[in-house]
Amino acid sequence: MSPDTIAPDAEFWQRAQRYLVRYGAEFYPLVARRAKGSFIFDEENRAILDFASGQMSSILGHSHPEIVRTVRHWFGELDHLYSAIVSRPVVDLAEALAKLAPGNLERVLLLSTGGESNDAAIRMARLASGGYEIIGLSRSWHGVTGAAASATYNSSRKGYGPSAAGSIVIPAPDFFRPRFGSAEDYDWRAELDYAFDLVDRQSTGNLAALIAEPILSSGGVIEPPLGYFKALQAKCRERGMFLIFDEAQTGLGRTGTLFACERDEVVPDFLTLSKTLGAGIPLAAVLTTPEIEETCHERGFLFYTTHVSDPVPAAVGLKVLEVIVRDRLAERAQVAGLRLRRGLEDLMQRYECVADIRGRGLLLGMELVQDRQHRTPAPELAGKVMRRCLELGMSTSVIRGGLGVFRIAPPLTITDDEIDLGLSIFDRALHEVAH
Ligand SMILES: Cc1ncc(COP(=O)(O)O)c(C=O)c1O
Repeated sequence: MSPDTIAPDAEFWQRAQRYLVRYGAEFYPLVARRAKGSFIFDEENRAILDFASGQMSSILGHSHPEIVRTVRHWFGELDHLYSAIVSRPVVDLAEALAKLAPGNLERVLLLSTGGESNDAAIRMARLASGGYEIIGLSRSWHGVTGAAASATYNSSRKGYGPSAAGSIVIPAPDFFRPRFGSAEDYDWRAELDYAFDLVDRQSTGNLAALIAEPILSSGGVIEPPLGYFKALQAKCRERGMFLIFDEAQTGLGRTGTLFACERDEVVPDFLTLSKTLGAGIPLAAVLTTPEIEETCHERGFLFYTTHVSDPVPAAVGLKVLEVIVRDRLAERAQVAGLRLRRGLEDLMQRYECVADIRGRGLLLGMELVQDRQHRTPAPELAGKVMRRCLELGMSTSVIRGGLGVFRIAPPLTITDDEIDLGLSIFDRALHEVAH
């Protein structure tokens, strides 16, 4: 999108172009003025349905009244502290997370961003294991900070110098374009065996951890089959390495369970949360076991940041958990997700270019292709449909990386009418662009 061609405010865009560093995606041609519930409003007060929950963060919709009240109260009460001082909201949130999390993930570190939480988990995994090698999946996104970026394979790694020594990649499972077996009979176990054969050949004997998203969201909303993560964890255990689950996008109800790894019945050694935990404000967490935390502490673990254990984000996180549990938003994600999925499947029946609907709860992917037989990706077509959706009043995202996959993830508070509105916008955009 070229902001200066359709911008409502040329002077605004001139200043944006003059003063802002461009950081990865073209700016949408709208000037956001306010946001409420499932909608963003531009300067002309045009309502835009937010089918992306901001940057996958606003699970309670925008400016949820209880979150607004919490921020106002705590910022007026206890805004920010020296990092060695902890306060009640911090311990309360740590306790609440420990009680909700699976297994004995009872020790919690509160930080600001997803990349930071993955960096911290990797740092602890290295310290506790004594190794340094980190395995990532080929369609992963864990952040743009040091260790997280080294384990991220769905973004450009070119031009920034070497990534961390000991970065090893294995293929992300892919039902839509399987490499082992056939589309009807995908042999992901053979793929996993082969992947670990390559791991063993590359490893210098210093494996520390494997990091994975339970649903590879930015990589194309890839949902590994049931049993995959159990098999993966067994491979990690055989090699004495840790398993880190990055639930930045999947955590806290979005996939229909509080944590996505509950479906897989796998408890990792580390679980990281970010985006959804702050529901719009920067808050992240690393959860691990008391044993690992004790070992790290004995070995002098350091992750001392400006905003570690900040009280205001912690108070927000606590309120987010309270609302999600009280309002049964994980169950709501299942029900609303089914409605959304049925609507998308109906689009798949009617439009030849819509070739796959996948995902779980309110984290769904819709893949567009050039032809169904060969499943040729259609990223340009998807870009056009996305732009038309925006013109028609809906913000939705097409994932990076040369595929034409829409990631559809509205707030968990979305109403049935709003889901139907989003589906009708998709329908109209597909009709106009793809027919
Ligand atoms: C699964 C996952 N992990 C980590 C991150 C990085 O989070 P942040 O951008 O807050 O550093 C992202 C961001 O998109 C993500 O999707």
